[in-house]
Amino acid sequence: MHSARQALELGLFMPNCSNMSSISTYRVVADEWPFETNRQIAQAAEAVGFDLLFPVSRWRGFGGETDYLGTSLETLTWASALLAQTTRIRIFSTVHVPLFHPVVVAKMGATLDHLSGGRWGINLVSGWSAEEFAMMGMELLPHAERYQRTAAFIEILRGLWTAPPGTFDHVSPWYRVENGVSLPQPPRPPPIANAGTSEDAKAMTAQLCDWAFISTPSIDAAAPIVADIRARAAACGRQVRSAAFPFVLWRDSADEAEAEIARIVAHKDTVAAQNWLDGLNLGSGSFDSFTLDMLTVGAGAVHVTGTARDVAEKLAALHAGGIDAVLMVFQAYHADTLRFAREVMPLLREMGVIAPGASAPAR
Ligand SMILES: Cc1cc2nc3c(=O)[nH]c(=O)nc-3n(C[C@H](O)[C@H](O)[C@H](O)COP(=O)(O)O)c2cc1C
Repeated sequence: MHSARQALELGLFMPNCSNMSSISTYRVVADEWPFETNRQIAQAAEAVGFDLLFPVSRWRGFGGETDYLGTSLETLTWASALLAQTTRIRIFSTVHVPLFHPVVVAKMGATLDHLSGGRWGINLVSGWSAEEFAMMGMELLPHAERYQRTAAFIEILRGLWTAPPGTFDHVSPWYRVENGVSLPQPPRPPPIANAGTSEDAKAMTAQLCDWAFISTPSIDAAAPIVADIRARAAACGRQVRSAAFPFVLWRDSADEAEAEIARIVAHKDTVAAQNWLDGLNLGSGSFDSFTLDMLTVGAGAVHVTGTARDVAEKLAALHAGGIDAVLMVFQAYHADTLRFAREVMPLLREMGVIAPGASAPAR
């Protein structure tokens, strides 16, 4: 199956927000959200041969002892700086559809595409945190309408990026664009991802997006989600790639890895974790099958833990189930990126999951 498919792409769900790796007060390194640390992580990821970086879009924290994700770097400006300090790795911005006008984002995207030689992409989020929106005097739309609006947003992005200048018009309940123009246009339209796993999200993603960024409660549960999105896309004559976000932690023995997970859970920030779970499930129940403890470790990431070989086998299983890219959450991003290159990538290469040349020698 692997030979018929593209290799698994490796990437990071970056710590551009505080406490990114877990909703817990337990930590093994200083919080990695500062830009200088993000720069080091991005450059390390590029050096070891990772393909992709995705950030999180947040506007306020989730309370509790950690004020989980409460300090964050905005992701369009963040991507601009990181793209300028890297040469090969692809970097996405995560953009809240209701908070930006699509004509503005089309120009920002064209600028990022232009300055990076085509390495930028956009990960759209339709929004779910009522508190974030209330801070801007805005209300969340009903669930289905969120994705109708996101579809209109994408139509405008693509129209401005591809239609002959001045010929693009759009009218919908949310936007009105007359004689739309945005120059320069990117030579190729940047890739568009959508993050979300509900029925509404899957339907919209299949019709319009290049990437589905999904959550899955288990490795086994990923395959049917991906198959569903693929089938819906095929029905529209399209192909959509799927990315998942695993929390990846490995030690010399599986018991040691388990003990570390237990420490993260033992220091759970219960208030923040409950706020996070309650908020997420207000939409569609996409995160219904996550327990609070599961959610604590990686905040909705699928757990990929054990020894280095266990981790390689679990990532291989995600790939075999149809996942095209993993945006990994690490406990200590910088150190673990380098350690992953030394200890896990050779196994993935041996298994034929990543391309033979997919890693520069690890430092
Ligand atoms: C992998 C993944 C990443 C996400 N990243 C963000 C994010 O950075 N910011 C945000 O506000 N929402 C984020 N979301 C939330 C989704 O955009 C969406 O609002 C949420 O999943 C609820 O929608 P749904 O019911 O359609 O799944 C993410 C969701 C997933 C599955």
